[in-house]
Amino acid sequence: MELKHASQLRGTVSVPGDKSISHRAIMFGAISEGTTEITNFLQGADCRSTISCFRKMGIPIENEAGRVTVHGNGLHGLLEPSGILDVGNSGTTARLISGILAGQSFPSSLNGDASIQKRPMNRILTPLSAMGAKVISQNGNGCAPLAFEPAPLCGIAYQTPVASAQVKSCILLAGLYADKITSVTEPALSRNHTELMLSAFGAEITSNGTTVSVLPQPKLSGLSIEVPGDISSAAYFIAAALLVKDAEILIKNVGINPTRDGILKVAKAMGGHLEFQNKRTVSGEPVCDLFVKSGSLHGTVINESLIPALIDEIPMIAVMAAFAEGQTVIKDAAELKVKESDRIFTTSENLRRMGVNVLPTDDGMVIEGNPDGLHGADFESYGDHRIAMSFSIAALALNEVCTMRGAECVEISYPGFYRDLAGLT
Ligand code: S3P
Repeated sequence: MELKHASQLRGTVSVPGDKSISHRAIMFGAISEGTTEITNFLQGADCRSTISCFRKMGIPIENEAGRVTVHGNGLHGLLEPSGILDVGNSGTTARLISGILAGQSFPSSLNGDASIQKRPMNRILTPLSAMGAKVISQNGNGCAPLAFEPAPLCGIAYQTPVASAQVKSCILLAGLYADKITSVTEPALSRNHTELMLSAFGAEITSNGTTVSVLPQPKLSGLSIEVPGDISSAAYFIAAALLVKDAEILIKNVGINPTRDGILKVAKAMGGHLEFQNKRTVSGEPVCDLFVKSGSLHGTVINESLIPALIDEIPMIAVMAAFAEGQTVIKDAAELKVKESDRIFTTSENLRRMGVNVLPTDDGMVIEGNPDGLHGADFESYGDHRIAMSFSIAALALNEVCTMRGAECVEISYPGFYRDLAGLT
C-alpha cells in the first residue's frame, strides 16, 4: 500500500469497539443463561474467531450490522465441537477459551495460525494443570495446538510471573468450574475488563490490589453490553494528530479504563495536547471523547507498572518518540517479544528504515528522536496489525511517499482503519 504525507488533519472519528471487551462479551454471554445483546461489537478478524469457536460449541450467535446476539446456554451448556477450534491470529481467544475448555465435560482441541503456534502457552498450561486440568501442548513445545480432556478442577491461589490479562482471565474462567475459590496475583495490574464484566454477569469476583478472586459455580445471566471504543485503536489517531503539523481532531467514544490508559499518560508526558470531553460510563467502563491537536513532542522514559497499561501501544509510542526531541527509553517490556510479532524487532527494523537511531534491548528499546532528519521508507508489517497501523501513521508525518507491505493485516483489529484515516486527511 502506498502511504502519502499529510499536511493537515481535521474532523471527527469514532473508533470501533474495544477488542478485549468484544471477545469477553461473546465468551461470557455463551456461558450465561439467557440472551446477551452486544452493540458496537468489533467486527475484526480476531473477534470473529471467538464467535466461530462458540458457534462450533453449539451456541447460536446472530451477527447483524452493529448488533450481536448471543443465546447463552449456561456454564454447562456448551456442546463438544465436531472439529478443532480455530482461534486464527487471536491470542486472547486462545488463552481465555482455554480456561473455559479446561472445565468442560467433553474433550476439545484448539489451534491457530503460524503466529499463534509460536506464542507461549505454558503461562496458562502451568496454572491450569495446577488446578487439575488435563491439557497438553500437542507438539510438546509449550505452544498451540492444545488438547483438553475432561477433569475436575480445584481452586488455587496462583502467583503469575507475568502481568497478563489473558493469563489472569484464563485462570478466573477455569475458577468458575472449580471446587473452591480461585485467586490470581499479578506482578502489576493488567487490564481488568474480565473482572468488571464477569461481575456484571453475576460472578462473585473480588479485587484487592493485584489479586483477584472468583468463587465457583455462579449463575451467570445474559445482559446488554455496549462496547466502548478501543483506546488501542484510538492511539493511532492520537499519534497522527500529535505528529501531523497542522492537526485538530475529535476522537469519539474512547474507552479510558485506567488499566488501559498508559498511552494518554505518555502522550501528555511527551508534551502532547489532549482534552477530555464528555466523560461518562458505558457498560461499567469509563469513556470520553478526546480532542487532540498537533504540537512538538519530547522524549520520555516508559517502564515498570505503566507497561501493562500501554503494552499494545508501544509500537505507536516508538514512532512518536522518533519524531520527538531527545531520547525515549522503553524498558521492562520483554512481553513485546511474544506478541503477534516480536515487536522489539519489528518496531526497531521499521524505525531504522525511516532513518531512526534505535537500540533494541532485551526488554524494550532506546530511541533517539530526530524530528527533522527522517526520510520515507518501505515498511513491512510482518503480518502484525499494530505494526502496520503504527508505521502507516509514521508515513503521514514523513515528507516522502512510503509503502507498507502486508497492510491488509489491519483487518485483525481495525478493518476500517485506512478508510477512517482517509476521512481525516
Ligand atoms: C489482552 C491482553 C494483552 C494484550 C492483548 C489483549 C486481553 O495481552 O496485549 O492484545 O484482551 O486480555 P497479555 O495478556 O498477553 O498481556
